Amino acid sequence: MAPRSIIIDTDPGQDDAIAILLALASEEFQVLGLTAVAGNVPLALTEANARKICELAGRPETKVFAGCARPLVRSLVTAEEVHGKTGLDGPELPAPTMPLQEGHAVDWIVDTLRAAPAGSITLCTLGPLTNIATAMVKAPDIVPRIAEIVMMGGAYFEVGNVTPTAEFNIYVDPHAAHVVFTSGVKMTMHPLDVTHKALMTRAWIDSLRALGSATGQAAAAMLDFYERFDMEKYGEAGGPLHDPCVIAYLLQPELFRGRDCNVAIETRSDLTMGMTVVDWWGVTDRPANCHVINQIDAEGFYELIRSRLARLP
Ligand code: BDR
Ligand code: CA
Repeated sequence: MAPRSIIIDTDPGQDDAIAILLALASEEFQVLGLTAVAGNVPLALTEANARKICELAGRPETKVFAGCARPLVRSLVTAEEVHGKTGLDGPELPAPTMPLQEGHAVDWIVDTLRAAPAGSITLCTLGPLTNIATAMVKAPDIVPRIAEIVMMGGAYFEVGNVTPTAEFNIYVDPHAAHVVFTSGVKMTMHPLDVTHKALMTRAWIDSLRALGSATGQAAAAMLDFYERFDMEKYGEAGGPLHDPCVIAYLLQPELFRGRDCNVAIETRSDLTMGMTVVDWWGVTDRPANCHVINQIDAEGFYELIRSRLARLP
C-alpha cells in the first residue's frame, strides 16, 4: 500500500517527540513535514526541538517549518512545569544543525495542500491548533482538500488538566479550535479520556533504554523527566503518553475505540474557557463532527511504540 502522506503540527514536548519518532520510524507514512507552533514552550524552542528530534531519528532531510508564535486571540500560555524550560528536558540533545525551512508554516501547509491531490494529506495535530486555523482562514479552499485531521486535544469525562474543565492544547488557543471544529473536515480526537488510560510503566521506559540505541536512551531520559509531573499530580504509577496516540491510531486503529459525537468549543466563559463540550449521549440535535476516542489497548500501544523506535539509530 502507498504510504499515507502526513503533516505533523507540533509543539515538542517530550510526548510530541515520541509521536514524531514513531511516525519517522514507520514506513506506513510519508512525513511531508513538521510544522512547529507555540504551545508547551515558545516557538523558538518548539521549532528547534522538532529539528533535534529529526536529527535524533537520523532524518535530517525532514522539512521543519516555524509557524505561529502566539494564539489567535489570547496570550500564550506555556507548560514549562511539565516539560522543563527547554520543552524537551531530560536528555542532552545537541543543538540542531539541519536547517529550518524558509517561509512560514501556514503558507507551506496551504501550498502543500493545494499542490497535492484533494483528500491525499492527513493532518496530525499534537499542539494548539493555531497554525491549522490560520491556514483555514487564510485559504478556505484548502479545507475540502484535507483528508482528515487526527488530533490530540480536549477532554470530557476526564475533564481538564490545565483548568478544571480544559485540556492544554485546546485551552491555549480555543478560538483556533473553534475554527477547526466548525470547518467540516473529517476529525478524530484523542482527548484525556483516552490518553489517561495510556499510562507508562517503569519497565516499559527501561525497555526503551535497553534498546541500546541513541534514540532509545534519549527517549527514556525524556520520559523519566516528563512523567514525574503527572505521577505527582495524579498519584498514578506512570504518566500518560498523549500525543503518540495520534500516530498509533493511524497505524493500528484497532487499538482504539470511540464514537461519533458533536464537539463544540467554549470560547466565552472565563470559568470554562477551552472546554470541549462533547455531546457523548446525543442529547442535542447538533450533528456529529468528530470521532471521539475513549478506549485504548494500552499494552498494544506501548508495544507498537517500542518495536517501532527499535528501528531508529
Ligand atoms: C497535551 O499538552 C501538551 O503538554 C502535551 O504535549 C499534549 O499535546 C496534553 O494535554
Ligand atoms: Ca503536544
